[in-house]
Amino acid sequence: MGAGIVEVFARGGVDVVAVEITPAALERGRATLTRSTDRAVTRGRLTAADRDALLGRVTFAVGLAALGEVDLVIEAVPEQLGLKRRLFGELDRICKPGAILATNTSSLSVTEIAVATERPSQVIGMHFFNPAPVMKLVEVIRTVTTSTEVVEAVEALCGRLGKVDVTITDRAGFIANALLFGYLNQAVAMFESRYVGREDIDAAMKLGCGLPMGPLALLDLIGLDTAYEILETMYRRGGRDRRHAPVPLLRQMVTAGLLGRKSGQGFYRYAGPGSSTVVPDDQTPSAIPVDGARPVARVGVIGSDAAIAGLGEVFAGAGYDVVVLPWEPEKSAGPGGREKSVGTGGLEKSAGTGGSEKSAGLEGLADVDLVVAAVDGGDLETVRALFAELDEVCRPGALLATTTGTLPVIDIAMATRRPADVLGLHFAGPAGPAGLSAEVRPVVEIVETIRSSTEAVATARAVCAALGGTGVVCRDRAGFVVNALLFPYLNDAVRMLEASYSTVDDIDHAMKLGCGYPAGPFEMLDLVGLDIALAVQRSLYRELREPSLAPAPLLEKLVTAGFLGRGTGRGFREPTAQPFSGRSGG
Ligand SMILES: NC(=O)c1ccc[n+]([C@@H]2O[C@H](COP(=O)([O-])OP(=O)(O)OC[C@H]3O[C@@H](n4cnc5c(N)ncnc54)[C@H](O)[C@@H]3O)[C@@H](O)[C@H]2O)c1
Repeated sequence: MGAGIVEVFARGGVDVVAVEITPAALERGRATLTRSTDRAVTRGRLTAADRDALLGRVTFAVGLAALGEVDLVIEAVPEQLGLKRRLFGELDRICKPGAILATNTSSLSVTEIAVATERPSQVIGMHFFNPAPVMKLVEVIRTVTTSTEVVEAVEALCGRLGKVDVTITDRAGFIANALLFGYLNQAVAMFESRYVGREDIDAAMKLGCGLPMGPLALLDLIGLDTAYEILETMYRRGGRDRRHAPVPLLRQMVTAGLLGRKSGQGFYRYAGPGSSTVVPDDQTPSAIPVDGARPVARVGVIGSDAAIAGLGEVFAGAGYDVVVLPWEPEKSAGPGGREKSVGTGGLEKSAGTGGSEKSAGLEGLADVDLVVAAVDGGDLETVRALFAELDEVCRPGALLATTTGTLPVIDIAMATRRPADVLGLHFAGPAGPAGLSAEVRPVVEIVETIRSSTEAVATARAVCAALGGTGVVCRDRAGFVVNALLFPYLNDAVRMLEASYSTVDDIDHAMKLGCGYPAGPFEMLDLVGLDIALAVQRSLYRELREPSLAPAPLLEKLVTAGFLGRGTGRGFREPTAQPFSGRSGG
């Protein structure tokens, strides 16, 4: 971070003194700066002359003595309170009286750092994001003692450097890290428990939510030692939320020197220390294992008109023969009542979809190889009854898949006499199956229950590959991968708003400009629908019983009031947020 911050200031035309603790560390920092600016020249973002001028503004020094005459110090030493307090005490003695002392801490109390000096009114937080030259956001943290002139001077400086600042008070993790680190830690827990593989977890979040990188790759960028310290502090300062208690694997990796990109190995292996190039290792999956996959040529699709249109287009576009069957759970009167919603008998060619025909009843699915039932919105008993009937109608060996995002797949599987051939195919995306089209490369969570057969999973993998999408195999746990990681983060954002720590706009800004998310949490909530977010969050809470997963009261109230976001004209914003181009889990 130190090298990145040096680059930001030197690019902005400010003379910088770059200080490290040893000559070797100083050389590493200098090399990081040189690599980054050379890359900017190669990519045409900086001319060679500008790079030379930038580097000419930086002087390098070992030890704090070189800082006597500077106007502002930004500290970016390891995330340890004792170390930072000692350093600020020394800076206070060395720096001239008017100098502002800023900390880049991610999670520690700026106030506790400030009171280690005789000038707490001139101490402030300036939290840059990684990589500092790229990320636009700076969280400016004012403590109860920071003077208004210092806050204004730092805000003005951020503007001069081309950064966007959000000024907030001193709370663990500020905005972005308070929302980010629970998610990162949970992703490590999923990986540690072998719930889902390394590449799969990263692909699910990157492709399913439009994030710039997956959580494990991001931890490698942040540095596992830094991430560990941040989580420790978040846990202690942030109300001992177990989601912030660092997962044991993190500690083991740090102890083993697997720190991420900076050491050349973390969750992934890199071409060398400091490199961003991932090289294969013994965990890298080989070609998608499709051994044992059954042939699938004909696919039955059941769901609302919108869902069967989306799914039908995706399957027909990939060359499958598709039979679509409309099904509306709300028209169903529970077990035995589906006749009202699916009708009986007869097949007709549906207009506009080449390889697709429309069935008026379940009988039309007798000879399909795979049924995809888009049953979101159905309650468990209704869906179980549907699957029991599918089990009667479909030929033995046909796979039965549910797209549910909230119901336990095993409960649905056990309604049939073929639980080994039942699994979940959860299409991650803001509108679920209805958001699909021939152009979308779907991200599909392949949900394996404890009764699913390996052939069923292999078949699902082969089908996802044939759709041109990404299949992520995970087990049958509430929220699977995407929803289990995304919705608690969204819920935390609502809690942060409810606590009046920040505003809808600033929280959205922080996640977009600090973490490169395609949309802020409130934009995502308005897009996905607050009622859906509440349903997912309730299902997570019901299964995991983790107190901090309880739906935020504000979310419940908005849903009760009918402010559901998209489609209702009002959600967290009024009118509803602008749509965004990325995709999120729904
Ligand atoms: N890594 C991130 O993504 C990230 C993002 C934002 C903020 N931060 C914060 O930035 C700070 C640094 O994190 P990092 O990831 O760059 O850590 P790091 O361990 O990669 O770098 C810390 C550097 O500080 C140097 N150092 C240690 N003691 C020193 C001293 N007394 N004087 C001068 N230099 C000293 C070390 O030699 C090392 O190069 C932390 O407070 C962290 O929370 C990190």
